Amino acid sequence: MDKTFPESATLDRGYDKIPLPFGWFAVAASEEITVGDRKTFRYFGTEFVIWRGEDGQLRAVDPFCPHLGAHLGVASEVVGNDLRCAFHHWTYNGEGGVTEIPYTRFVPPKLKRSCLPAWPAAEVDGLVYVWYHPNKGAPKWEVMALPPCPEGEWVEEERHEWSVNIHVQEITENGQDHAHFASVHGVPGAPSGEFRLDGWVRRNIVEATMNTPRGPMHGKIDNFATGPGQTITQFIDVTHVVLLQTVTPIDRENTHIRWKLYRQSNLSDGKMRVNQARMRDLVKQIVQDIPIWNAKRYVPNPLLVEGDGPLLAYRQQYARFYDFESDAAAE
Ligand code: FES
Ligand SMILES: [Fe+2]
Repeated sequence: MDKTFPESATLDRGYDKIPLPFGWFAVAASEEITVGDRKTFRYFGTEFVIWRGEDGQLRAVDPFCPHLGAHLGVASEVVGNDLRCAFHHWTYNGEGGVTEIPYTRFVPPKLKRSCLPAWPAAEVDGLVYVWYHPNKGAPKWEVMALPPCPEGEWVEEERHEWSVNIHVQEITENGQDHAHFASVHGVPGAPSGEFRLDGWVRRNIVEATMNTPRGPMHGKIDNFATGPGQTITQFIDVTHVVLLQTVTPIDRENTHIRWKLYRQSNLSDGKMRVNQARMRDLVKQIVQDIPIWNAKRYVPNPLLVEGDGPLLAYRQQYARFYDFESDAAAE
């Protein structure tokens, strides 16, 4: 061979050209941060520090102390509801305002108001969420909660996590990619039904054939997303399974996926078996998607043909999550 190649050629997958969308994103399970804990998280190509005060509330701030730059996730301590920097013991509240400086008599009012950027945090259905916005824009919608359980209560049956090498936008785009359901997942026929985009909300309601131990069964899949970070999908036939999926950008080319799968309480053995088969099938499907995601590139102008699904409509709505200058709420 007379041609030499550079030792580490890197493929350009196009993800460095797509920004990270704003929105609510899951960053931890509630039990990972107990009262008095403070932890540093790495997502969105940056870091932030979350702590739980003695009142049980979560608070989140940028990592560096504005006084002299110590990392607030290193050797700092939760004091009451506030966080005390390890370096000179300045103490901050959840708005990033200074509540105490032990060696000075006068704390300037502007430091008391806020001098450390804070992150909106929320806790819903056992997950901790932060609001990410590159310009620190305020939240535009609320974190979605599980739908009401039609009978009894939701029981969390399974939990899964995956770290995948792909931009966050591509993962939820997969649900609009109708043609891959047959080729990748072996599901015959494109899903047909209602696809609705409304402000920050995306909803698909499809009639579908789902695999069960008794063979394929007809049912309804109701998929609801508000913003780029959270999707709640209900699978309804003889039983009712709910999948809460959260996708959180680690950076532009890496995403953390979390799944919580719920069933109804007080099920017969037969219905339990149907549920277990449904959950196995769902996990099998994402495991089939992941190798393709890990290696694909982003195609800004895809060669779409009839039968591909509403990919462009999805992308058009998604572009709103990159509109960082706008203060607009959803129409
Ligand atoms: S650097 Fe944090 S208190 Fe001084
Ligand atoms: Fe898929």
